[in-house]
Amino acid sequence: MLTERPYWPYPRIVAHRGGGLLAPENTLAALRYARNLGFEGVEFDVKLTGDDVPVLLHDDTLERTTDGSGAMADMLFDVVTQLDAGSWFANEFAGESVPAFAAASALCKETGLWANIELKPSPGEEHKTGRIVARMAKLLWSGAALPPLLSSFSLEALKAARSQAPELPRALLCNEIPDDWEASLDQLDCVAMHVAFDHLSAEVVAAIQATRRGVLAYTVNDPLDAVELIEMGVDALVTDQIDVIGPHFA
Ligand code: G3P
Ligand code: MG
Repeated sequence: MLTERPYWPYPRIVAHRGGGLLAPENTLAALRYARNLGFEGVEFDVKLTGDDVPVLLHDDTLERTTDGSGAMADMLFDVVTQLDAGSWFANEFAGESVPAFAAASALCKETGLWANIELKPSPGEEHKTGRIVARMAKLLWSGAALPPLLSSFSLEALKAARSQAPELPRALLCNEIPDDWEASLDQLDCVAMHVAFDHLSAEVVAAIQATRRGVLAYTVNDPLDAVELIEMGVDALVTDQIDVIGPHFA
């Protein structure tokens, strides 16, 4: 049977940073929250601790989403695991930790969640992050029916990921679409392009899909924008509004 989205075998609506706005971002609680709402796919951000352990965190520094301070790249994993990554969000999440990438992988596999792993290197760690995270992802998801999709704004991280795990699919993330987008997708052998939703049009979506790649729009929080993007033909949306733009929205 022909699929409507031949270049996107992944879930259509993806929960941003695990649980969007309903749980502390990039935590196991967030992944569980999305799963309990019926989501089949989540996006989360991965970077390295000072001793090169991949963990989930968006920012380069700890202040905004944990009770720690300073740069993640300067922290040892043993110290990072003691941080509280839930209290900043709500008391009911107090004690939630910064998860190891391996723990997030285990939860995804156990609950049947597909993962869009965003490689989010600390400055200067692009190559190392791509290499280590891809290598671990390859082991952690070996034999999975639907492999995770590695995405990044960093060409260097994607290049390193490809060298370690060529079989894992990759997507290029961008805000505005660069003039040389097709050359970059070709060079990195990407299966999709993830674009800031307000830089997409039906023409751009069609041009990307004409190269046999999927198009994901981020971060779509207004249901009217979501409808418009779906009408434009995007393959998938990443959203924070996981209770409004739910897993069965489209
Ligand atoms: O992967 C889509 C989106 O997560 C990219 O932006 O800053 O939220 O990681 P950011
Ligand atoms: Mg992200």
